[in-house]
Amino acid sequence: MFAKACLLAALSLASVSAFAAECETTVDSTDTMTFSTDEITVSKQCKTFTVHLTHSGGLPAQVMGHNWVLSKADDAVPISTDGMDGGFENAYLKPGDTRVIAHTKLIGAGETDSVTFDVSQLDPAQAYTFFCSYPAHISRMKGTLKVIPG
Ligand code: CO
Repeated sequence: MFAKACLLAALSLASVSAFAAECETTVDSTDTMTFSTDEITVSKQCKTFTVHLTHSGGLPAQVMGHNWVLSKADDAVPISTDGMDGGFENAYLKPGDTRVIAHTKLIGAGETDSVTFDVSQLDPAQAYTFFCSYPAHISRMKGTLKVIPG
């Protein structure tokens, strides 16, 4: 119990410092198929951007798995649909799907994973979507990633 409180405190501190740096953020996921945010802003001043995914629920990845997948907005639903064939062992992504810009692994309760991607490949004029590719989760677990010049 005490250890869990310490971990939560550490995560809160990490979020605060991440906000100051603006080149990383923490996204929490839950047993009710939600992300803690539906919008992430990435500055082109960042060389790379890192997303730390956490899962504060109680269910394992097999039944309430979450990943954080980034793609162009128009690619999100097709990636999610094709990802069902990839199955659990491929984190519900089609292996080698070049439409995926970045993704974490699929995690369950108490697990974390991070992904770092190159900001130079992102275009401020392009709309990007982040989502969870676990079957049907995109209906509730999706958001907008905005790229700003400064
Ligand atoms: Co999910």
